[in-house]
Amino acid sequence: MANVIIVGAQWGDEGKGKVVDIYTENANDVARFQGGNNAGHTLVVGNEKTVLHLIPSGILHPGKRCIIGNGVVLDPKIFLQEIEGLKAKGYLKDDSQLVVDGNVHIIMPYHKAIDIAREKASGARKIGTTGRGIGPTYEDKIGRRGIRLNDLVNPQVFARKLKEVLPEKNFMLEKFLGEPALAEEAIIEEYTGYALQLKKYLGCASTLLNQSIREGHNILFEGAQGSLLDVDHGTYPYVTSSSTISGGACTGTGVGPRFMDEIIGISKAYVTRVGEGPFPTELNDAMGEKLQKAGNEFGATTGRPRRTGWFDAVALREAVRTNGMTGLAITKMDVLNDFDTIKVCTAYSYKGELLEDFPRDFEVLRECHPVYEELEGWKSDISTVTEFDQLPEKAVSYLKKIEEITGCPAILVSVGPRRDQTIQVKNPFA
Ligand code: IMP
Repeated sequence: MANVIIVGAQWGDEGKGKVVDIYTENANDVARFQGGNNAGHTLVVGNEKTVLHLIPSGILHPGKRCIIGNGVVLDPKIFLQEIEGLKAKGYLKDDSQLVVDGNVHIIMPYHKAIDIAREKASGARKIGTTGRGIGPTYEDKIGRRGIRLNDLVNPQVFARKLKEVLPEKNFMLEKFLGEPALAEEAIIEEYTGYALQLKKYLGCASTLLNQSIREGHNILFEGAQGSLLDVDHGTYPYVTSSSTISGGACTGTGVGPRFMDEIIGISKAYVTRVGEGPFPTELNDAMGEKLQKAGNEFGATTGRPRRTGWFDAVALREAVRTNGMTGLAITKMDVLNDFDTIKVCTAYSYKGELLEDFPRDFEVLRECHPVYEELEGWKSDISTVTEFDQLPEKAVSYLKKIEEITGCPAILVSVGPRRDQTIQVKNPFA
């Protein structure tokens, strides 16, 4: 039996969906523990592409139970649309395959309206959020004003809580942000409809997962976004509003840390970022454009072009430490097939000083410049390679360099979007 946590090791979009999909073969349960439909996982099975924002990617495997833990924020409309889309493609034949914890916080229309209006009002200082209402929903959770799924499915409790909170939200929308107020009756009508459809998925993540552990089952904990977007350990304030690192798997599902066995960080062979915020190895030149094109770096959720840059080992070392990573999965290696030289950032230079650790002070980080080591590219197509020892020597050197600087072994290498374009060095469930 093994319980494995998968987290993004960079700023999100590392290709977690594919890795989770592969590891799901070994798991009985797949649990999401934070974030909401700000995430976007693109999965390719055969020639069919499926994009999931909320439901764990494990749903594509019949017989695997997918659990949405209490740490997630849930937009009921999106959730129900996703279910409909999956069913139309022949997935989710058995509704008991999907469970949502009753303590997930519900993303309400005012959360989305406030998120979008605040960003608009922030001008150049905006965060670059996905506009899905994620931050405002987590604010209400921490501020003890949130509405949880357990509240939503109880019409009296839902109406009372909404009545209490809506005047404050409308005051904020109208008087501060200059947006129209929202009508209570319309929200009640819309959300009561969702409640009726959601009821059958309601359950308790902590009870189910702990029971699974007692029965000797394998659990995969599926993180969303990335470690550098963590609200505590990321590049604050340019972060998302949840605990994206491995610790979040415990608080976001109600499973204790002693049951976690392996923590796998997913990292691209280069770096991308969407939204605003510091990005020391960013390439604002033809090389950056080449990476963007070769990697098809456009957001699965918002369609925004992703910023691109060279591999940043300083940032990755930080993620290895805050997560306690036991292994790395390096994705999109094939994107680097056609580069004469490939750079790896091994340290930062800050006002003439050499920094080996990722600065926790945002004002320092924004003034850091990358110090690179240059490696020769392998200049060949590795997208059909399935065994580690078939990789060109220069590709192996690149991976060894990453392992050496981060102190973490690469246990999986992805060389294309399909399931069969994967080199598995070690199975974390074995
Ligand atoms: P929010 O999560 O919508 O509040 O956005 C906050 C920051 O996190 C923005 O920079 C977003 O672009 C970024 N972000 C949120 N979700 C993802 C994701 O799944 N992948 C990459 N970036 C994300």
